[in-house]
Amino acid sequence: SAAEKGGWSSFMLKEITEEPEAVADTLRERIHDGDVLVPELAALGEEALRDVDRIIVVAAGTASYAGQVGTYAIETWARVPVDVQLAHEFRYRDPVVGPNTLVVSISQSGETMDTLMAVKHARELGARTISICNTQGATIPRESDAALYTHAGPEVAVASTKAFVAQITALYLLGLHLARVKGTLSLGERREMLDELLAVPEKIRFAIGEHERVAELAHWMGSASAVLFLGRHVGYPIALEGALKLKELAYIHAEGFAAGELKHGPIALIEPGLPVFVLVPSPRHSEEMHRKVISNIQEIRARGARVIAIAEQADAAVLPFADEVIALPLAGKFFEPLIAVVPLQLFALELATAKGLDVDQPRNLAKSVTVE
Ligand code: AGP
Repeated sequence: SAAEKGGWSSFMLKEITEEPEAVADTLRERIHDGDVLVPELAALGEEALRDVDRIIVVAAGTASYAGQVGTYAIETWARVPVDVQLAHEFRYRDPVVGPNTLVVSISQSGETMDTLMAVKHARELGARTISICNTQGATIPRESDAALYTHAGPEVAVASTKAFVAQITALYLLGLHLARVKGTLSLGERREMLDELLAVPEKIRFAIGEHERVAELAHWMGSASAVLFLGRHVGYPIALEGALKLKELAYIHAEGFAAGELKHGPIALIEPGLPVFVLVPSPRHSEEMHRKVISNIQEIRARGARVIAIAEQADAAVLPFADEVIALPLAGKFFEPLIAVVPLQLFALELATAKGLDVDQPRNLAKSVTVE
């Protein structure tokens, strides 16, 4: 009802505006004296965590993309290899799992059957299991050795938005906690990352402030029959997520690609007028990646694509090459996705709205998929 939406036009829009709190509330009580300390992880025992030599994330859909974002930071900080496996594929591939493997499931609802079965399988194989979940007391956290709850609040819209940013936040807390226990990051380095995390809510607010501009873009793209998304590094899973949102809500063919993959095939799809969103990494993090993404933009623009760049405010280099730029505040390299995903969520919402579709209840989808 309108009352439940608190005056918002949709639950989805309401939930996007709640993203700053979703991140801030997930951080709360997990930072003590300027250092990370996640009590739920501490309960597993320091030694068990120190011995972790492999992490496998199991999840589906948007939760799996949160997992993919998390891999980059966790590997860098804790020096542990991290793989993401789709929960429904995990059981059927005879996974290599040992007692020092940590299987981290991610699920907003905590009831996704595919993910639950993956967790049960991991336990049978002797792994330790942690559930990142947004729903207190749900089945998956109950079936896991530990639960690291996200505090995004109830998510009603079928399309996951605020849970996604909360899931990445929880993975970063896990990565920093592991880095402390394993001694792979100094206190100073951990503090720097925590400061970045604490600054995210304000930057998400800025991104939400770009809503009007994003809505204008959605208007001229209302008739597009396909949209592509390109990203590199942590921007790659965000490209996948941007495409998923558009499929789910606006029923448009949308694909996300790793920008480097373009020349290995997808560039054949580029034709005049095709809208392509490009997540541009800040040159301050990597000159080289930035240069490569700009050259991708030139390649697709030369073939007539309409490029919408999502870039850092101060990145003037991108301006001459893009048709449109959505400028966002600078964030540390692992933190960009938490901010860059917001315009993509808003874009899918606006495009679906422009097409007269129900953004909270897209066709054929259920909020939580409790069958295999
Ligand atoms: C996201 O917009 C989706 N509707 C879907 O991909 C979802 O993220 C997936 O089904 C996993 O759900 P869960 O987080 O509740 O396990």
